[in-house]
Amino acid sequence: MDFFKENTDTWEKLRADCAGCMRCELGRTRHDLVFGVGNERSDVMFIGEGPGEQEDLQGEPFVGPAGKLLDVMLELIGLDRTQVYIANIVKCRPPRNRDPLPDEQSACIGWLNRQIALVQPKVLVFLGRIAAQVFIKPDFRITREHGQWFDVDGRRAMAIYHPSALLRDPSKRPETFVDLKSLQRELKDLT
Ligand code: URA
Repeated sequence: MDFFKENTDTWEKLRADCAGCMRCELGRTRHDLVFGVGNERSDVMFIGEGPGEQEDLQGEPFVGPAGKLLDVMLELIGLDRTQVYIANIVKCRPPRNRDPLPDEQSACIGWLNRQIALVQPKVLVFLGRIAAQVFIKPDFRITREHGQWFDVDGRRAMAIYHPSALLRDPSKRPETFVDLKSLQRELKDLT
């Protein structure tokens, strides 16, 4: 009967439910919750792992050094951050930028699932291993499987190197350029 059930969620309700979330320990140490940003009806959603220092201070995803590189990556395929939707697996900064723990991810993932249900993107792009392991498969190997297309709940999905990894190791950038071009073709085919 779910088929006939209307989705009554709204952005207002989701934002209100998410505000002040204390579902895990990260709520105690955050400065600001980092909800998500961009076009709420975009065909494409970019999903990172969790806020860093600048994101925590500004309350917006990907505004620090990795975010500046993400802007450049979007620009390479004719997009900017107002045209896509950007969010993270966890909404609060893990201390010292460590990876979000499995229980923190499970406590938080419901917010992201509701964001995806509201945006209804046709394409999901995972930034880095952590997001790909949550949505594609637990043993996802970013070095081997970046740039490949998968089906995630009926949506086209691809993982690319996280921009922080590209800052640490610029030799990965040419491969990422190829992946971005594949994404650009996929988005073009939608129209
Ligand atoms: N890294 C992420 O995964 N997300 C951000 O918002 C910033 C850096």
